[in-house]
Amino acid sequence: MSTPRGEFTSRFGFLMAASGSAVGLGNIWGFPTNAASNGGAAFLFTYLILVFVLAYPALMAELIIGRHAKANAVTALQGLSRGTISRGMGTFVGFAGIITVSLILSFYTIVSGWMVAFLIDPLARIANLDSLADWLTTDTILRNALFVMLFMGLTIYVVSAGVKDGIEKWASRLMPSLVVILLLLILYVITLPGASDGMRAFLIPDFKQLIDPGLIINALGQAFFSLSLGAGTMLIYGSYVSKKENLPALGGMVALLDVGVAVMAGMLILPAMYVAQANGVAIYDESGGLIAGPGLILSVLPALFNSMGSAGLLVALAFFLLMTIASLTSSISMLEVPVAYAVENHSVGRRKAALIIGGIVAIICLTIVANFDDLFDLVVTVTTEYSQPLGGLFFCIFAGWIWNRNSLLQEIKQGFPEVEQSLFWKIWPFYVKFICPVAIAAVYIQLLS
Ligand code: PHE
Repeated sequence: MSTPRGEFTSRFGFLMAASGSAVGLGNIWGFPTNAASNGGAAFLFTYLILVFVLAYPALMAELIIGRHAKANAVTALQGLSRGTISRGMGTFVGFAGIITVSLILSFYTIVSGWMVAFLIDPLARIANLDSLADWLTTDTILRNALFVMLFMGLTIYVVSAGVKDGIEKWASRLMPSLVVILLLLILYVITLPGASDGMRAFLIPDFKQLIDPGLIINALGQAFFSLSLGAGTMLIYGSYVSKKENLPALGGMVALLDVGVAVMAGMLILPAMYVAQANGVAIYDESGGLIAGPGLILSVLPALFNSMGSAGLLVALAFFLLMTIASLTSSISMLEVPVAYAVENHSVGRRKAALIIGGIVAIICLTIVANFDDLFDLVVTVTTEYSQPLGGLFFCIFAGWIWNRNSLLQEIKQGFPEVEQSLFWKIWPFYVKFICPVAIAAVYIQLLS
């Protein structure tokens, strides 16, 4: 444990890294389609409330625990405990987080690999390599396996370079580019015929759907996935934040950035889908719902880009670059969780840890690729619908019930000396102690019933 721990060198660096983790396929792909199929702005409204009422307090629990311990999830939770039972629970929750995030990384890498293949496709078409382009966009085990390895290689490359020279450096370059590309794409797509119908589907609320308990479950799941909660990711990023920073304010900015990008993505994806419909592409499935799964990104949008002629090549390039950036800044935050544990608790060098753990996750990816129909949905459901909310629940229990309240206050006071007089301190401890655990448990019970 002699190697000094990494730390983000600036507030901007942390914001880019943490919002890079949060902003991912969940925002650009998951959120818009979830919103469109669950009452448009009614979903957005529910989502915003859940983000600030439940997800933000849970995010703060992870960030504060992480910064206090300046250690990985296992050590951090063990350190808060006051007896053998809570220590055992800390060990269990820490390891459960490591396993959850590694499994999330395994399905995320597969999908991210598709994004890279579709990013190279327009380049191949520009170079007149049509058969390569066809291979890139055809779903085969070989293509999926190769792109899993390529994307995992990129993730390992960034994580090996460390917190400052890898994660912070790349997130600070990639996140601003992501926002610029997203804005340019929105500006272009909303000028096309059909776009306003999509904007309407996204923004006009259908409040009848608000009484549907499925909507709340969806919105909470979406919020937890989108803010990278319940798996130790935000805990480890929190552990790299300087004691000089005001954590409640930083966490608030991360939540705002995440929601902001999700809303912007809605203004791109839904108009794009309706433009595709105006161009003769089917956007509803047999059951009458909007196509939301892999079909959306891998067939509806590419069909739209194809119908746009040569401008479509550029738009496809920009869109899949956006998706690749969003994926990479999230995947590095996932790999960092087990790597930090191996480096800190088993004295393994960072490069070696990133290579070995990334290699193991790549093998899990390849197993899923080879048994896609049996395993893919299963891994997604178990990790995002069951493990993440449960993990979030336990982080709240640690922050609210197990951690000594005075020590918790002292931690937040660093970087925020006037916290005791703030609204945050009036509300958050109560939330994290009572409201979050009860609400997450209630949603969880709904899910099981
Ligand atoms: N927040 C990421 C997204 O929206 C996914 C993620 C989940 C990242 C869990 C880290 C941990 O795509």
